[in-house]
This record gives sequence, C-alpha cells and structure tokens, in this order.
Amino acid sequence: MNRQLAAITGIEAYVPEYRLTNTELEKLVDTNDEWIVSRTGIKERRILKDPGKAVSDMAAIIVDKLLKKTNTSPDEIELVICCTVTGDMVFPDTANIICDKVGIKNAFAFDINAACSGFLFGLTTGSKFIEAGTHKKVIVIGADKMSSIIDYTDRATCIIFGDGGGAVLLEPSKDGHGIVDSVLCGDGSGREYLHMKAGGSLRPASAETVANKEHYVYQEGKAVFKSAINGMVDTVQKVLKRNHLTTADVDWLVPHQANIRIINGVADGLDFDKSKVMINIEKYGNTTAGTLPLCLHEWEPKLKKGDKIVLTTFGGGFTWGATYLTWAY
Ligand code: UT7
Repeated sequence: MNRQLAAITGIEAYVPEYRLTNTELEKLVDTNDEWIVSRTGIKERRILKDPGKAVSDMAAIIVDKLLKKTNTSPDEIELVICCTVTGDMVFPDTANIICDKVGIKNAFAFDINAACSGFLFGLTTGSKFIEAGTHKKVIVIGADKMSSIIDYTDRATCIIFGDGGGAVLLEPSKDGHGIVDSVLCGDGSGREYLHMKAGGSLRPASAETVANKEHYVYQEGKAVFKSAINGMVDTVQKVLKRNHLTTADVDWLVPHQANIRIINGVADGLDFDKSKVMINIEKYGNTTAGTLPLCLHEWEPKLKKGDKIVLTTFGGGFTWGATYLTWAY
C-alpha cells in the first residue's frame, strides 16, 4: 500500500517593516559594512519595533494570510505547531496564543523548540499526523523575534540575527507529491557553543542574571560554523542516498540562512549548482526558525509542481537535518 504523504498546499511569510542596516549597526558596535558583508553576507535584517508585539503577532499575520490564500476556515484547522525559541512567554505555548488571535478553535497546538532547526522538525512532526490519517489540516509555523534576545552591544551576535517567519498548510497529498523523507539529528553536547544562559529552571531570572547579560544569545561562532557545514552536507547526502537521488536530480536546495559562507560551504561540499540554492540572507539575516519558510515563500512563484526540493538546517542544540519533498502545486 502506498504511504499517504503530507503535501504543502500553501505558504505565507511576514517580516516587520523596520530595516536594521549595517550602517546603523556601525553606530552601535565596533563593526563595519565590509566586515559584515564579507564574513556573513548580510546587508540588513528586519526588526519588530512595536512595543508589546511578539512572535504570536507576526505569526497571527502569517496564519491569517495563509488561511485566506488557501480558502481555509479557521474551524477546519486541527493542529498548529509553532517552531520558535522566542515564544511570547515561557508558558503557555505560543501556538495556543496564535490560535486565539486568529480564531482557530478546533485545534490542539504546541511549540517546538529546536532553534534554527525548528521549522524542519515541525514540518516532519506535522506531516506525521497527516500520514497517520488522523488529521487533514495542519499548520506549521517557523518564526522568531530574535531582537528580543540579542545584546546590541555584542558585535559577534547582533550583526547576524533578525525577526520574521513563515508558515505552511499541510494536507493529505492527492497525487503523491509532498514531504517524502527527513534525516533529523541532535547532539546536546553542542549546547555549550550556542545557548541562552539564564531564564530557564537551571538559572531562573534574577537581578544577577540580568546584570550579567545572561538573557541574551551566547554563541561561539567558529565551533558552530564548522559543525553546521558538516552536519548539513552529511544529512543532505543521507536523505538523497536513501531516496536514490543525486544532487543533479534536485531542483532546489533550501539551506538555513545563518551565514553566506556556511551556505557556500554546504553547496561546495555537495558539489551543488549555486543557481539552484535559495539565498536571501542579505535581506533578513538569520531569523532562526523563520529562514526556511521565508525562502520557500519568496521562491514560491518560481516553483513548479513536482519540483524536487531539499531543505537543510543546523542550529542550537545542536540540532540539524535535511528534508526531501516534492512541491505539490
Ligand atoms: O543559526 C544558528 C547557527 N549559527 C551559525 O551558524 C553561526 C555560525 N558562525 C558564524 O557565522 C561566524 O562564526 C560569525 C559570523 C559569528 C563570526 O565570523 P568568524 O569569521 O567566525 O569570525 P571570528 O569570530 O573568528 O572573528 C574574527 C575576527 C575577530 O578579531 P581578531 O580576534 O581576529 O582580532 C573578531 O573579534 O573578527 C572580529 N569580529 C568582528 N569584526 C568586525 C567579530 N565580529 C565582528 C564584527 N565586526 N561584527
């Protein structure tokens, strides 16, 4: 019996209006446009400036647009997964808040915290509910308000991250196109290199943690850089091999947008044609769980039914992986 695949039947995205340019960052920290562009590929990132606005506000805009675009009523949605590391609150899950804001009342909802790999972990998780035959309409969101956890006096991190995200609707595939296979990995020993020190049960928030700036992203960039290239190349190769494909068969490679040098390293490691690699890091920087849906949404007009697409990512955890899908519309 053929497996019931989950298909992406719609995609939407959102980035806030405010553009934080390299020139503006030059006024905040000791950096310069030439260094940022040559070392990361980033020219600007979007920042959610509105006071009192959070990930759920960006996601509610995205989901509203997605429901309209796919002619779906909020009542039809059965599951909402929000992938984020910057949820509105420690609890409840932001996915529940999003449902409340957009009027989704018949769904259960939860968050996935897999840092930059969130969207791929969420996509795979959501697709399993469709494959099992128990759910027919699932929304998977990848969105982060990284500006809420970035120290704008730390030049090693503030130049990289931005705010934004996207979401997909998953439905049972009608013609065999959809999410075919994923190789997902985790290694908690990598937490040493990329984490937020305080605010969890290990180090609850206190005057001391605030004074020590422990509620911001801590990253040892070089260690993450090397593992990121190796992890993405390895999992893309594995998922291709498992599905009897070569890189030449793939129409689009969608890599996590963390650093242009990482993206090029992955493409080179796979001997992949760069004209088929989705890259928009120059406009948005690293939006963590948002990068993959932001890319897919931007390229949507160019995608054709049946296109073979491989998404790959690496992030805090460490978490990483690759997903192979065929475009369904
Ligand atoms: O998405 C989650 C996963 N995260 C990633 O994939 C990020 C991976 N890492 C990276 O993208 C890079 O490691 C960074 C962009 C974070 C840093 O680039 P790098 O080429 O690894 O730089 P580095 O940290 O080795 O620093 C090289 C030099 C240092 O100066 P010295 O010691 O050589 O004098 C830094 O102090 O560049 C200096 N530097 C800067 N200079 C100007 C670091 N940040 C800056 C800056 N502007 N913003």
